Amino acid sequence: MIKRIQEIAQEAEQKIAEAKDNEELSKLQILYLAKKSELMSFMAKMKDMNQEERASFGEVMNSVKNKIQTKIDEKRKVLKDLAMEHRLKKEAMDITLPGENYERGAKHLFQKVVDEVSDIFIGMGYQIEEGPEVELDHFNFELLNVPKDHPARDMQDSFYIDETHLMRSQTSPVQARVMLSKNGVGPIKIISPGKTFRRDEDATHSHQFGQIEGLVVDENVRMSDLLGTLELFVKKMFGEKRKIRMRPSYFPFTEPSVEVDISCFECGGKGCSLCKHSGWIEILGAGMVHPNVLKMCGFDTKKYQGFAFGVGIERVAMLRYGIDDIRRFYTNDMRFNKQFHRE
Ligand code: DAH
Repeated sequence: MIKRIQEIAQEAEQKIAEAKDNEELSKLQILYLAKKSELMSFMAKMKDMNQEERASFGEVMNSVKNKIQTKIDEKRKVLKDLAMEHRLKKEAMDITLPGENYERGAKHLFQKVVDEVSDIFIGMGYQIEEGPEVELDHFNFELLNVPKDHPARDMQDSFYIDETHLMRSQTSPVQARVMLSKNGVGPIKIISPGKTFRRDEDATHSHQFGQIEGLVVDENVRMSDLLGTLELFVKKMFGEKRKIRMRPSYFPFTEPSVEVDISCFECGGKGCSLCKHSGWIEILGAGMVHPNVLKMCGFDTKKYQGFAFGVGIERVAMLRYGIDDIRRFYTNDMRFNKQFHRE
């Protein structure tokens, strides 16, 4: 019997050494150490032994049992270590490989100009307001003193969505929205940059373009305040030496209306191809807010006056950076976009 026990022990040791995974080990555990295993069945024989035999037999059985269990435990650990090693090898990264390069992004020229203009006006105490790009005809035209069928609508050939909605053709509707939100109580001092849309397409007109609207409503606002404000803006944007001049013009929502020119920053006013040899460059439209507009938007015209202006974002950018075609802002040619990354 002892011989058989030793045989089994030897066989068990060999099988454990050969086991390839935990599943095999579990099977071996059952095969050798379960109650019904051959080895354990010898325990039953102990009851027929005398005390001495029983003691020495018990000792042999115990040591064999412990040895097999120890071997199984050791093997489990070896397998676990191997699995970990394997996983580490599989998941290893080659840190000597060259990494991926991410190019640093930068603002589009359009946004750069919006930010520059906004900074200048924030410095003068203006707040930034936004309005919807899909606008009601009511705000885009009617509250701006352009009733239905008014011929002035022709100046802004528009994209209509239905009878009452259009892609706003100007940022001026933000004027009406802000005034109405104030319930007739001033002051108002805002600018509103954003996208606008018209059915136009050539080198200086794009169906999508940007404007920055300005509006001031307060007591005792005069034309000279408009002049001073725009002069400051132009000097900050185009250089200290710039002069401005106003020419009479027409906008339905301002009276009087003006077109504002700046002295040419290319030739200083002598005349060159940029200013078409006039020494002046047209830069924006402006005027004193029409009393009809103030009234429709809830302001008492005896107490309040206002001025407003609207400047084309791309136009400013084109003049400042010498860009020949407005469509370059929207075709996403990286060779164009990247030129303005550096300050
Ligand atoms: N909305 C005008 C346009 O798109 C620009 C403009 C002119 C805005 C005069 C104004 C203004 O606020 O006072 O042509």
